[in-house]
Amino acid sequence: MFDLHGKRALVTGGSRGIGAAIAQALAEHGADVAFTYARSESRAAAVVKSIEATGRRAVALQADSADPQAIARSVADTVSALGGLDILVNNAAVGLDGLIADLDLDAYQAMMDVNVRGPVLFSKAAIPHLGAGGRIVSIGSGLAERVPFPGVTAYAMSKAALLALTRGLSRELGPKGVTVNLVLPGSTDTESNPADGPAADFQRGLTSLGRFGEPREVANAVVFLASPAASVITGAVLAADGGAIA
Ligand SMILES: NC(=O)c1ccc[n+]([C@@H]2O[C@H](COP(=O)([O-])OP(=O)(O)OC[C@H]3O[C@@H](n4cnc5c(N)ncnc54)[C@H](OP(=O)(O)O)[C@@H]3O)[C@@H](O)[C@H]2O)c1
Repeated sequence: MFDLHGKRALVTGGSRGIGAAIAQALAEHGADVAFTYARSESRAAAVVKSIEATGRRAVALQADSADPQAIARSVADTVSALGGLDILVNNAAVGLDGLIADLDLDAYQAMMDVNVRGPVLFSKAAIPHLGAGGRIVSIGSGLAERVPFPGVTAYAMSKAALLALTRGLSRELGPKGVTVNLVLPGSTDTESNPADGPAADFQRGLTSLGRFGEPREVANAVVFLASPAASVITGAVLAADGGAIA
């Protein structure tokens, strides 16, 4: 039911953190996987090795999600390397801390380019290749649903945009048999939000389970939505956040 053999996936931002766990988990369920990264070439090479150890094909593509040409090229390279594309996971994103009163316009635009325009352009480039049974899964944030402290408003806005992208695309692609869903991680132990960081105890206190998630726990939600088990689920939002938005 969760079998992905024969599927070809592209994960954005797969060199580290949640994206690396998604790439690995998709491969462990049988998919061949391409993934993009921005700067971490050696980390990307390690993810390729780890995926190849599962017996699946792996392709690392350097492609800045802020660059429309790099996005189009990475989708085309995925299709030619893997022979097609069945699953797109929009994961790459950057954070932006600070009050709106202090907003730096260049930093705001740079974040929006990666977090919002990136998933739009990856979806646009992927759509012609996705057939019946195709999947788009985007990685949002619980902050799209609830903003329980100040200083993350602009980042939360970028993640809230993925709610509308997901719901709208589910309407546009439903007739093709393609599903489109959104996973909302909560506090998840990665380099950008370590479980031993300065605000970690505060974040744990916001959850029902009293702990951070592991990248693999978010990846498991993506595997489910990418798999035949989720065949009738589209336009849906799945929180993988230890109950932070309960
Ligand atoms: N961790 C959390 O607590 C948490 C909570 C809610 C939502 N999320 C969401 O989960 C996703 C993954 O987060 P994470 O914590 O795993 O992040 P992370 O550890 O910072 O990893 C980010 C990944 O995205 C790539 N990336 C960043 N900017 C990019 C760009 N401009 N172009 C291409 N790739 C780029 C990075 O590549 P390089 O290695 O080359 O830099 C890396 O592979 C994001 O969408 C994030 O918003 C995370």
